[in-house]
Amino acid sequence: MARDIVIWPHKVLTSATKPVTDFGPGLEKLLDEMLESMREAKGIGIAANQVGESLRVALVGREDGTVFEIVNPQVLERSGKVTWEEGCLSVPDQWEKVQRYEKVKVRYQDKTGQWHEVAAEGKLAHVFQHEIDHLDGHVFVDYLSGLKRSLIQERMKKLQKTLKRKKD
Ligand code: CO
Repeated sequence: MARDIVIWPHKVLTSATKPVTDFGPGLEKLLDEMLESMREAKGIGIAANQVGESLRVALVGREDGTVFEIVNPQVLERSGKVTWEEGCLSVPDQWEKVQRYEKVKVRYQDKTGQWHEVAAEGKLAHVFQHEIDHLDGHVFVDYLSGLKRSLIQERMKKLQKTLKRKKD
């Protein structure tokens, strides 16, 4: 079942997540729920803390619609610089230019605990960095000016009120 996406700012999004040590059925269930939540919200990536689980787990969408399931990821290498217009399911409808590395090499575990390495570039590299940032407690708005960030924070406050009203 899809879970509600946590809206920024929330402590679970601004705190670093805990490494995964239990590669059991609970992890598989979390990954399935994250995928449903991501698809429902039409996202191209999602981190576990965006559905309220402070665990080092994320999904990174490929161009073909399939996803990398990344557990305990670490960025091993970074090179080049590129700017993309970036958005986030936890900061709905806000798009801002963010500079990131053009290429990254990432080491991660799959849901069985096996280690893998992947080299990504362009948009895919951007998504890897965005999701790994989430796991470290960072959201893309952290890269914006204080003024832009407070404007977005005001909009998110209004959005929270609207969402709450819909639920009540
Ligand atoms: Co995001």
